[in-house]
Amino acid sequence: MKSLFSVVFIAAIVFASGATSQEKKSTKKPTVSFSNDVFPIIKKRCLPCHAADSENPSELIVETLSDLVKGGKHGKPIIPKNGDVSILVQKIKPNPPFGEQMPLMTKKKLTDEEVELFKTWIDQGAKKN
Ligand code: HEC
Repeated sequence: MKSLFSVVFIAAIVFASGATSQEKKSTKKPTVSFSNDVFPIIKKRCLPCHAADSENPSELIVETLSDLVKGGKHGKPIIPKNGDVSILVQKIKPNPPFGEQMPLMTKKKLTDEEVELFKTWIDQGAKKN
């Protein structure tokens, strides 16, 4: 009886540790690259209005990562490690804290997956990767 109990007990531990390592695997997001994942979207969807010569009233330029980090009228749009409070993420979602949802003047807003890429890249430290 005692040994049956140990077998069940050990089986339970093995099962539980297996389950947690599985869980870790599924919540860990793959690394998002600025140059391969984020910048191609910026180039196509944002740069037409946010270039150095755009005369955009927001004063935000997105030609390079350092332009983007500097930000525009409302200050730094990126808070590294905190995608949710970063203006850059808030502005590409519905009901931004000021002005309109980006990109402006189109019904084709960014997809949920694209918004998630921006957010994850910032959550992972907004690196020049
Ligand atoms: C059709 C032109 C246009 C496009 C395309 C566009 N923007 Fe904008 N953007 C503006 C204008 C005009 C403003 C100022 C008004 C406002 O904030 O709604 C602005 C403001 C912003 C601001 C606020 C900056 C500040 O400090 O005030 C952010 C952040 C921003 N845009 C990000 C983006 C991103 C990211 C994209 C691409 C996904 C994008 N924009 C595409 C025209 C555009």
